Amino acid sequence: MDHHKPFSVLLVLLLHGSAYGTISPKVIALQQVLSSELQTLERNALLTGPLHAESSSDGSAISRLRRTFHEFERQNQESITAILRVLALIDHTLENTIQDCEKVFHLPSLYSENVLFRDVTRPLLLLVEQLCQQITLEDFGQIESSLEAVEQAATHYRSRLDETKRSMQVVLDELDHIMGTFSAPLQLNALFDQMEQVNATIRSSIARATVNLLDRQHAISDMILPTSEGNNDMFVIVESFMTFLANETDILAEDLAEQLDDWFNETTNMINIVAEEVSAIPQTLMEAPIEAFLRQESSLKCLAEYINKKAVEKLWIGLDRILQCFHVGNDTERPFEMAKQLLSLADRNIQLTLEEILECHQSTLRVGYDAKVYDEMASCYEMSKPILEAMQEYVYSKMDEIYFHVELSMYFNELKMESCVYYRAREMMLDVSEVNQRYRKCNEEGQIEL
Ligand SMILES: *[C@@H]1O[C@H](CO)[C@@H](O)[C@H](O)[C@H]1NC(C)=O
Ligand SMILES: *[C@@H]1O[C@H](CO)[C@@H](O)[C@H](O)[C@H]1NC(C)=O
Ligand SMILES: *[C@@H]1O[C@H](CO)[C@@H](O)[C@H](O)[C@H]1NC(C)=O
Ligand SMILES: *[C@@H]1O[C@H](CO)[C@@H](O)[C@H](O)[C@H]1NC(C)=O
Repeated sequence: MDHHKPFSVLLVLLLHGSAYGTISPKVIALQQVLSSELQTLERNALLTGPLHAESSSDGSAISRLRRTFHEFERQNQESITAILRVLALIDHTLENTIQDCEKVFHLPSLYSENVLFRDVTRPLLLLVEQLCQQITLEDFGQIESSLEAVEQAATHYRSRLDETKRSMQVVLDELDHIMGTFSAPLQLNALFDQMEQVNATIRSSIARATVNLLDRQHAISDMILPTSEGNNDMFVIVESFMTFLANETDILAEDLAEQLDDWFNETTNMINIVAEEVSAIPQTLMEAPIEAFLRQESSLKCLAEYINKKAVEKLWIGLDRILQCFHVGNDTERPFEMAKQLLSLADRNIQLTLEEILECHQSTLRVGYDAKVYDEMASCYEMSKPILEAMQEYVYSKMDEIYFHVELSMYFNELKMESCVYYRAREMMLDVSEVNQRYRKCNEEGQIEL
């Protein structure tokens, strides 16, 4: 629609009307066309909804920006209404127009401090106000040139308003996008779910491995029974070894579970720290450019370019990549897999030794076995005692080996996770700084004018 034309036609007619003191039906018709266009503008214009209670009290830059937009639209709206009231006067005789113009045009927001209003609407209003004064003073000599100025101002007003609304739309859309669409909570839940699952898997696998080990050794050692002859030495040392083994196995299982708890605790802490930072980033990122705009140090156009989809998407991709650092399932399981292998190796070694001891013991239970005959040979008890003692040392060292393997692996996992977070956060910051540079450049190129 060409708004320029009806405006100028109207203004010319206004001029002629005042010169001749009557208003023709044609003027009324044109006045109606222009009125209806301005009414359309008045109805279509609003981008901002009613202000929410929280955003009207919150002092954050984003809230102040929303309020500025809202206030601008309201004041712009009032201005259009005021111009419409002036147009409506043309229904009456020119005498009424002369008397009422200034009163009808009275508009407190003419002196508003609103950044956008001052840029977009006020220049036109000042000229219309001047025109009204001249009509009131019947300063017919000045009216014509004033009208021409108003006509030009109206054209500029239209294009400034269009561009401003477009930029406002971009900014508002992106602010909603930034605040609304990142699925961080969803991704965090997925991470915690995964941790819970890995936790349960590892715990049950450790429990199974230790129970199996003890079951197998018990199956063998239980066959070394107290003898009817009252020589229970052999039975006692094997039972004592089994108590020792059960104790050490329990301790290992507990220690491993504790390491797992510590690891998950630490991972959870780190995820929470990142999540906290992450939720603050969009706001932090927008703060400075919005402040600059509100201080009139930057244009709305540059702001709209800064808050564009690409920048925000880069941000989300960066955050997504950071959260991927916490997909630690395999890395967590691997050391415990190794622990299980070491445990099963120990299991086999213990089993072989116990089987030898059992066979020795069983050989003494054969019919007609007489220990005295083999007096010169070490007894099974004499042979087994140092072996079981040495095996305790072996078990100790195996348990240590397993424990320290897991500890070192988990420590390394932590380093890996931390450096992953660090480098990806850094990468994201570099992307963001690129966007910042574009914004600075936009401002330096003097595109302060809308
Ligand atoms: C891991 O499992 C233990 C025992 O079921 C539980 O107490 C702990 O909270 C779990 N940790 C995680 C991170 O799921
Ligand atoms: C289990 O082992 C711990 C540490 O080695 C030891 O202090 C404790 O006395 C043992 N308990 C039994 C019942 O052997
Ligand atoms: C988890 O880590 C936090 C912070 O490091 C610590 O205060 C808390 O005691 C830890 N909880 C457990 C169960 O280790
Ligand atoms: C984890 O291990 C499984 C099976 O070994 C493999 O299919 C999967 O791709 C691994 N995941 C990661 C993130 O390395």
